[in-house]
Amino acid sequence: MDYGAGTGFATLQVLNSSLGPFINEVVCFDLSPAMIKICSEKMNSYPDVTFTFLADVSGRQELENQQPFNLVVTNAFLHHLLDVEGFLKQVRQYVAASGFYMAGHEPNYNFYVNEELVQVTRAFQRYKRIRQRLTLRYWLLKAGIKKSNPDLATLVNQELLRSGLSEQSIPANLLHKLVDIHVPFGISTDQPWGEIGFKDSTVAQWLGSDFEWKGTYTYSHIKDGLANRDWYWKKRLPHLEATYPLDGADALMVFRKKD
Ligand SMILES: C[S@@+](CC[C@H](N)C(=O)[O-])C[C@H]1O[C@@H](n2cnc3c(N)ncnc32)[C@H](O)[C@@H]1O
Repeated sequence: MDYGAGTGFATLQVLNSSLGPFINEVVCFDLSPAMIKICSEKMNSYPDVTFTFLADVSGRQELENQQPFNLVVTNAFLHHLLDVEGFLKQVRQYVAASGFYMAGHEPNYNFYVNEELVQVTRAFQRYKRIRQRLTLRYWLLKAGIKKSNPDLATLVNQELLRSGLSEQSIPANLLHKLVDIHVPFGISTDQPWGEIGFKDSTVAQWLGSDFEWKGTYTYSHIKDGLANRDWYWKKRLPHLEATYPLDGADALMVFRKKD
């Protein structure tokens, strides 16, 4: 089962992995019917797999009627929840004995308290700002000759004001924090609310004593996707990964429910 499936990214990753041939039934659930519609359209090239697509509050209720699953996946999901502990108490009921729960692409606590990785990331961000200033686009935008597209925060604020859900614009950094509740503000540990990313030991504790931790894979040791594409900074990554294998900014954690 893929909980918070969105457009089906994690389901596709699993189906296309070496696990794929062992899977014959998949349930995708998301609160958003629009996401689940796109998700269902993407799953038409697996004739040997039976899919169930569930959405909205009614879909969530329907999950209660499903048999426990051998694998429950959430991807880029936990950090959006106000009550992560409550959600994990629920997840434990969805996992069959000897089955697995996999939490993919979550912010990793270890990164935010690793001073070297935070310093390298800050250095990369400074480098990026300087490089931006060397582009014609930057100066055209600054001089007002070229118009930039409105950013996400501006669009969301426009919609909040239009629909009357908000009476004034919400500053962009707070808006991001309202959505990515447990992703630290910038890369600071000084948080107005939410967890400073997750520890695998805390997730294991929240799942309860009938789950055991099986492994954690971390990545993004410089917390910026562009570092991978820069010839100088990408050369630094293998060393950081080897020195701090458990401290990348993003983590995938695997837990198994005992027999
Ligand atoms: C960042 S997206 C990740 C989607 C997908 N798992 C992926 O990896 O691409 C988060 C998804 O969680 C869904 N979502 C947020 N809160 C939810 C909730 N309480 N219950 C179910 N789905 C939720 C959103 O609609 C969105 O599709």
